Amino acid sequence: MRILIRGGTVVTATDMASADVLIEGERIQAIGTGFDDADTVIDATDRYVMPGGVDVHTHMELPLAGTFASDDFATGTAAAAWGGTTTIIDFAVQERGESLSAGLDRWLAKAAPKSHIDYGMHLIVREINEAILREMDAMIERGVPSFKLFMAYPGVNMVDDASIFRGLSRTADNGGLIMIHAENGGVIDVLVQRYLAAGKTAPVDHALTMPASMEGEATHRAIALAELARAPVYIAHLSSRDGLDAVREGRDRGVPVYAETCPQYLYLSLSDLDRPGFDGAKFVCSPPLRPADHQADLWRGLMTDDLQVVSTDHCPFDFKDQKALGKGDFSAIPNGLPGVEDRFTLLWDGGVGQGRISPMRFVELIATAPARMFGLAPRKGTLTPGSDADIVIFNPNTERTVSASSHHMRVDYSCYEGRRVRGVPEVVMQRGVVLVRDGHFYGKQGAGQFLRRSTFSPA
Ligand code: URP
Ligand code: ZN
Repeated sequence: MRILIRGGTVVTATDMASADVLIEGERIQAIGTGFDDADTVIDATDRYVMPGGVDVHTHMELPLAGTFASDDFATGTAAAAWGGTTTIIDFAVQERGESLSAGLDRWLAKAAPKSHIDYGMHLIVREINEAILREMDAMIERGVPSFKLFMAYPGVNMVDDASIFRGLSRTADNGGLIMIHAENGGVIDVLVQRYLAAGKTAPVDHALTMPASMEGEATHRAIALAELARAPVYIAHLSSRDGLDAVREGRDRGVPVYAETCPQYLYLSLSDLDRPGFDGAKFVCSPPLRPADHQADLWRGLMTDDLQVVSTDHCPFDFKDQKALGKGDFSAIPNGLPGVEDRFTLLWDGGVGQGRISPMRFVELIATAPARMFGLAPRKGTLTPGSDADIVIFNPNTERTVSASSHHMRVDYSCYEGRRVRGVPEVVMQRGVVLVRDGHFYGKQGAGQFLRRSTFSPA
């Protein structure tokens, strides 16, 4: 089966040119002009032709705060495809006392029968000991070379500095990558107890107990540990100027530190948490939303490459029945926001649409750099002969309104309700198969493949 995408502007992280894309089976065969024999021709006139998005931070079906993230691998990956994302990397969780391989097997069993798009896994590691360190090597053999460690959530996920240093030292040897949730969990816990004791229980108080300075402190500490271990480190969901300053300082002195931010930190702010009544709970996530003046710094970080990736940290909970668990106690609100469907258009609209970044930089942030760092290149994240035909045909001129009434994520609200944005992924293909075309979904549950990833490469 040969498919020809004709007449569009092909955009990669390095080039942008009028060209046609010839697909043979699951792969891109050629990019150029003058191809004439194809079984199907898709017209891309006045459209951008870009690699499918790679979202390296999602949490489908995550158990949290006595409930589960409301999207499973079926609904969440369908929503991802609607939004132009064709690859996710989700987080398998190691239960305490459990082996890493048991945690991974559990997550793969959830994903395999349901996923519409290709997926990889990271591992959330909740304790470090000799056996776990050895198992990290085994996980790399199984195509899972990235491990998330938490400096926050004492008693739940947090590991101490010695454990982080031991984990980093292991990846310095085995080629893996440690991802860090960088917030000072001990201090935050003290503040949470103080706020609750003082009767400050509203959604906005969740954010006020997690000050940006404690993200800056933890990010700085994580980078110092990585420097000592001579290992690369990846700061997950960076939310603040304070965290960004620490990353920039580290990079300026040559430490291989990398960081992602997420659309919620570019578009939403503390004032959303302070909406009337309990509405602010819709915006409770960790790290929290910051005062709006942090946003310009984060956009600058994306422009200057101090931030290399935009992911979503997609972790949705229904407002009505799930966020409501925290009425009267912000510490019981399930943390997390929906976003896997919105990332592509939001970053285009605020980034390219506002003249902050070029279409090529957009592709780098949304697909190429995450694919490269997380061991998926050149199969994913770019358009080149031999790479998977994961392709988005994007119409930059269509204006639309983001809304829970039209999105496909299984969650009863949108953080961006009513926002007007320009740009829509009109055709989304995975390995040569059309998943979305002109408002229709053709994907199949279970068609997504598990991606065995190779070890870390610098962005
Ligand atoms: O609030 C968030 N980010 N929830 C998802 C789980 C996590 O901590 O990443
Ligand atoms: Zn997360």
